[in-house]
Parts: sequence; C-alpha cells; structure tokens
Amino acid sequence: MNDSNAFPDDFLWGAATASFQIEGATTADGRGRSIWDTFADVPGKILGGDTGDPADDHYHRYTSDVALMRDLNLGAYRFSIAWPRVLPEGRGKVNQAGIDFYDRLVDTLLEAGIQPWATLYHWDLPQALEDAGGWPARDTAHHFAEYARIVGEALGDRVTNWMTVNEPWCSAFLGHLEGVHAPGRRDAGDALAATHHLLLGHGLAAQALRSTGGPVRVGLAHNQAVIRPHGPNAEDVRAARRADGVRNRLFTDPVLKGRYPADVVRDLAGISDFSFVREGDLETMSTPLDFLGVNFYSPEFVAASADGIDPARVSGAGDVWLGAGPEEVHVSQGLPVTHMGWEVDPTGLYDVLLRLAGESGGIDLYVTENGCAFEDTVTADGRVHDPDRRDYYEAHLRAAREAVDAGVPLRGYFAWSLLDNFEWAWGYSRRFGLVHVDYATQERVVKDSGLWYAELARTGRFS
Ligand code: FCB
Repeated sequence: MNDSNAFPDDFLWGAATASFQIEGATTADGRGRSIWDTFADVPGKILGGDTGDPADDHYHRYTSDVALMRDLNLGAYRFSIAWPRVLPEGRGKVNQAGIDFYDRLVDTLLEAGIQPWATLYHWDLPQALEDAGGWPARDTAHHFAEYARIVGEALGDRVTNWMTVNEPWCSAFLGHLEGVHAPGRRDAGDALAATHHLLLGHGLAAQALRSTGGPVRVGLAHNQAVIRPHGPNAEDVRAARRADGVRNRLFTDPVLKGRYPADVVRDLAGISDFSFVREGDLETMSTPLDFLGVNFYSPEFVAASADGIDPARVSGAGDVWLGAGPEEVHVSQGLPVTHMGWEVDPTGLYDVLLRLAGESGGIDLYVTENGCAFEDTVTADGRVHDPDRRDYYEAHLRAAREAVDAGVPLRGYFAWSLLDNFEWAWGYSRRFGLVHVDYATQERVVKDSGLWYAELARTGRFS
C-alpha cells in the first residue's frame, strides 16, 4: 500500500476484554466459582485485596457498554465466556442463565453492527475442576472440549470467530510455576503438564466447535514474547535461545508444526520426561487454525548472567528457565515504561508479527491484544487526558501498518482494553481502558485515547 497512513479497507478495528476482568456479578444467576474467585480470597495475592466484584458490573451493564462500543466505531468486540457461568461445576449440569447472558450479549452486538469474537478460556477455570486436578490433569482438556461444544451449539449460529485459549503461557507458567496467577501453584512439572493439556484442550475444542456445523473460524490468542540476547556473546545468545524455547516455541511448535521443539525437550529433561504426551495428541494440537491471534505488550531482553550489567537494569532472574540450567536474567533497555513497568518498544510488535507470519504458513493474523496502563484521572473538564496511551497506540499501530507493508496477512487489531478493569494480581490499580471506569459509581468516560481510536476506526487512517 502506498499511503503509509492508511490501513487496508477491510481492516477490522476492535477492542478486547475478558469475563473475570469486567463482568462482576460473581454470584449472580447460578455462576459457579472460578480459580480466580478462590485466588482473590487468599490474603496478599491481589493488590489491595481486590476481587472480581464489582469489576465493571458489565454483567448488568452490557447494553450500555455495547452502545459505547458503537460510539467508538468498533467493528468487532473480543470478549470471553466465563466457563463457570455456563457449567458451574465445569462439567455436567448446564446453567441456562449463564448461556442466556452471552446469548443476549451476542444479539446486542449484532444489532449494533459489531462482530462478536469469543474467547472460550480467559483464565477463569471452574474451581471444581481445579479441585479435580486442574490443567495438569488430562481430563480437564476433555471437559474443556465438552464446554466448547455446548457453547458452540448455543452461539455458533451467530458467532463466527472463536479463540479457544488466551495466552496459554500465562495460565501454565504464571499460574503453576510462578504462582502469581490463579491457581497459585509453584511446580515446574505442573507447569509443563498444564501447558500440554491447555494446548490439547485447544485442539479438542477447535474440533468440537467445528463439529457443531456453524460457519466457525477458530484460532487462539497467543502471547509471543520477543526475546533478544542482551549482548552478541555466545552465552547470551544461548540464554536467549533457551528462553525463547520455553516462552515461545514450547507453545507455537505443537500448534503450528505438530511437534515439541527437540532442543526444549532436551533442555527440560531434568524436570519432565514429557510422558503426558499420548499418541495422537500432537495431531490434535495442530488441528489447522483459521487465524492466529497475537497479544503483544513489550519485548524482553535476556542475558546469560548479570555479570557486568548495571544492576538497576537487571530483573527477574531465571523465571523463564524453570531453574533447570544457568540462570538467565532480564535486562531493561532503559526505555520509557508504562504503569506496569513494561518498556515501550513498538519494534517488538513488528518483529512478532513478521516471525509469526513466517511460522504460521499464511493464515490470517489479528492483533488480539495490545495496549498499556497509565495512571489516569478524570480532570475538572470531565475528561481523561492520556497522551501517553494515545502515543503508545499510534506507535504500535504504525508498527503493525509496516508489518502489513512487509507482507504480513494482518487483518485486524483489538485494543486492550475497552474498559479499565480487574488487572489480575494488580487488582483495580492498573488502568488499561480506552474508557475510564469509576468503580464506585460505575460511570464510564471515554478517554482521549478512546476518542482518537474511534476516529482511526472510523476512517481507517492516521490523521
Ligand atoms: C494479558 C491478558 C489480559 C490483560 C493484559 C494486560 O496478558 O491476556 O487479560 O491482563 O495482559
């Protein structure tokens, strides 16, 4: 395309959310408990003791929230379905009231001319399934497929685009190795077994959705990390290879290539013999995708050791490496950071898109999450002036636009997030929304970045 300010005519402009982060109403209408309800009840796990209530009370306010989406000129809305609303015990008895909520949401979106993009699993595993072993247990993948079939049968006549799992690395590693996300386990073997069953669940769910006969397109939302060696020396290059293996290829190779990366299996031999892999699993996991969702926030630099590096720039020793080898460290580049402490570097998004386009064999790519947290306030003029967020979006969208020029089949972009919401272990302290939410009054105010994004979505070009 010649005009570097313009996106392709059919480029899809969206925004994303997730059930536990926005819905609230955690005990309404027969919803079961999820691992995040349990985790949030453990003192010290969530900043400020925050829980999934009230969140954005979206469960009761979805009609006006869809009207807001229309004001923002969104062509698509990515939301997730709360498994414990549909199946309070994770399996067995279906809670019709839970399905009805998503049914109404989908119809309201369609009436507003907004495509519904549904994620089946954005981290709120029913607690009953965690009690039965959780993702480290193989049965969970099969229960997930059954849940996918039930939801697919209920909504598949109107929802075309489905994502099975969101960021399986976070579920597996933050939830089972680092323990900073629900269910809060700290066991490397569990993290690897959970990885396998999340990806197996993805494949089984894709097949289940397709078996319902609706015009479904299936993908998943993967958070590829950009991992770059800090220096050109052999040790840093090796550290980056290992980190890339665990963080990226452990997830993308089974899904895109139907195999586990041999070097990673070798590297992890001290932790797991991968005996959870059964015949046919990799074939199921690599069931062809219709599209790949890419979530991106910030790149990561890795060095083999902290030796000789300014200590102020070193963080997170060894967390990507399961403690199985020499400890790597993360090294900051000294760039500006967001309220999450994440460095802003849009070249990372460009790199991720180029690499995944190369690895995914020409299927459509969508940025299914990208955004940033800043400390927003509603000022006396009743507005939220957030130039940093607007700049973040523009810089990343320009990188995405360049990726299109470089031949990446990028078909759309979902800003994270539509609304300020419950940011997991950070509770309500981190605001990612295009729309500001006052949690006490539930008042919504479109931020300046939201107004800017609405104009971009309307015109399809940078002004
Ligand atoms: C991603 C999650 C999403 C949100 C953003 C900031 O890892 O998928 O729910 O928390 O980070």
